[in-house]
Amino acid sequence: MSSKKKTATSGSKKRTAGKEKTPDVVIVSSEAWPWVKTGGLADVAGALPRAMAQAGARVRLFVPLYKSIDRKKFKIPSRGGVKFRVPVSARIMEGTAHMISPSDNLEVWFIEQEQYFGREGVYLDPTGHDYPDNLERFAFFSRAVLETLIASGQPPDIIHCNDWQTGMIPAYLKTIYAGVPFFKNTGSLITIHNMGYQGRFHPSQWHLLGISWDHFHPGGLECYGHINLLKGGLIHADIITTVSPTYSQEILTPDGGFGLDGLLLHRVDRLHGVLNGIDTQEWNPATDQLIPHNFNRSDMAGKALCKTELLRNMRLDRGEGPLMAVVSRLADGKGMELLADCLDPMLAKGAQFLLLGSGDKALEQRFKQLAVSWPGQVSVTIGYDEALSHSIQAGSDMLLVPSRYEPCGLTQMYALAYGTAPLVRATGGLNDTVRQYDRATGEGNGFKFDEYSKEALLAKALEGIEFYLTDRRNWNKMVKMGMGEDNSWGRSARKYFSLYRLASSSGGK
Ligand code: ADP
Ligand code: GLC
Repeated sequence: MSSKKKTATSGSKKRTAGKEKTPDVVIVSSEAWPWVKTGGLADVAGALPRAMAQAGARVRLFVPLYKSIDRKKFKIPSRGGVKFRVPVSARIMEGTAHMISPSDNLEVWFIEQEQYFGREGVYLDPTGHDYPDNLERFAFFSRAVLETLIASGQPPDIIHCNDWQTGMIPAYLKTIYAGVPFFKNTGSLITIHNMGYQGRFHPSQWHLLGISWDHFHPGGLECYGHINLLKGGLIHADIITTVSPTYSQEILTPDGGFGLDGLLLHRVDRLHGVLNGIDTQEWNPATDQLIPHNFNRSDMAGKALCKTELLRNMRLDRGEGPLMAVVSRLADGKGMELLADCLDPMLAKGAQFLLLGSGDKALEQRFKQLAVSWPGQVSVTIGYDEALSHSIQAGSDMLLVPSRYEPCGLTQMYALAYGTAPLVRATGGLNDTVRQYDRATGEGNGFKFDEYSKEALLAKALEGIEFYLTDRRNWNKMVKMGMGEDNSWGRSARKYFSLYRLASSSGGK
């Protein structure tokens, strides 16, 4: 994007916080809570726009209108809307963008296109495989956002993209839309939520992207012979962010970069780590409607009642040891194999274990087997259950997140807010949000181990179990300290505002 000057757009008077003008922001995500969620990206894309709108920015969030989205419940219009057309290879695909406005300054735009999004899954078919036309679906979505913006007539200051599904937006802005006057003052930022998912596709699908073959080379969108949509975003975005400061360093290494570390090192002056926050409206034990009893730092009685109810519902006995929980996708990187290897000695020390998760079939099977071997002490629920995830955070004593890598991680922050001590590996955002408790000084909010090994995880788990069993007074102090920490979005939303200014003024090279 060459020499850009900022121009004020609609509502700019209202959108001034302090001295700086708050930006006109478009956020694009393939999922957003409460409309559609498969993981933490949805939590972020649901909460961040709201936090920014509350801070005075004008925010438009774009998501695909999947079949699973309850149109009636969310009052998404079924008529009208903004019609647009997107060329896909030799075809012209039509679609409609429908808007709702859940709060002041915030609009949510749903991209409707029956052929691409009118199906059961978000990314996967019912057998758990990626849809073969995911490149086409999300390239269409990316371009549909740009076309809807043009049709609606209001250019944003910034388009904030998330993950590979939206990686084509920065690429389009620098290629086929480069000369479009509408976007001449619009910068782009892409947030990496997980380098493990890059949107890699066979080159035979290139024609669906609508950009010239000139861009299919190692300095462009090609990566080891494949099309790589995340790479498209990383090369062309004005600013790149990761969801925690530690992760912004880890992705510069061969281990963390998943093949893109070289490119990221090349663009390191554009790379920033901005820690995710949590949505304190959705995740607040004092007001949460999804848990059986509310509680807060000065009145913890409700937490004990939540535990009693959770034990009963999960058919667990009341034990002396801590109730240790997992709420996670059972996917590569989450450290679940390591945990399964350590459970027997932890249970032998009196801990109880509760898991809610789904994903890898072999892991699902392994945990189910552990539940059979330890009746009354282990409970395993395979599936996805938002309400149960809240009850688990409220009723457990410890939350285990032993990830091999974790760009940010949200569950450990939910645990902190709910008086549940996190036990994490020192990686990514886990490292940035959890501090090892020091019994000598009373400082720290949980348990943290470094080496990715069964021994290191087990030693830390046994330390936690022993602490819980022998020193409940200080345990309670520790968890109350965690509950008092501010992990809300305010600070990070402001950090993004300053990066948006940088993106818009940086000239894009
Ligand atoms: P990731 O995005 O890598 O899965 P995060 O910790 O950032 O990891 O976010 C996971 C989100 O998904 C959290 O909101 C967590 O509570 C939720 N979650 C994960 N698995 C389940 C499940 N089986 N049921 C309900 N919620 C789940
Ligand atoms: C990804 C990451 C996770 C992060 C989430 C939200 O799914 O795996 O660590 O918390 O995105 O940014």
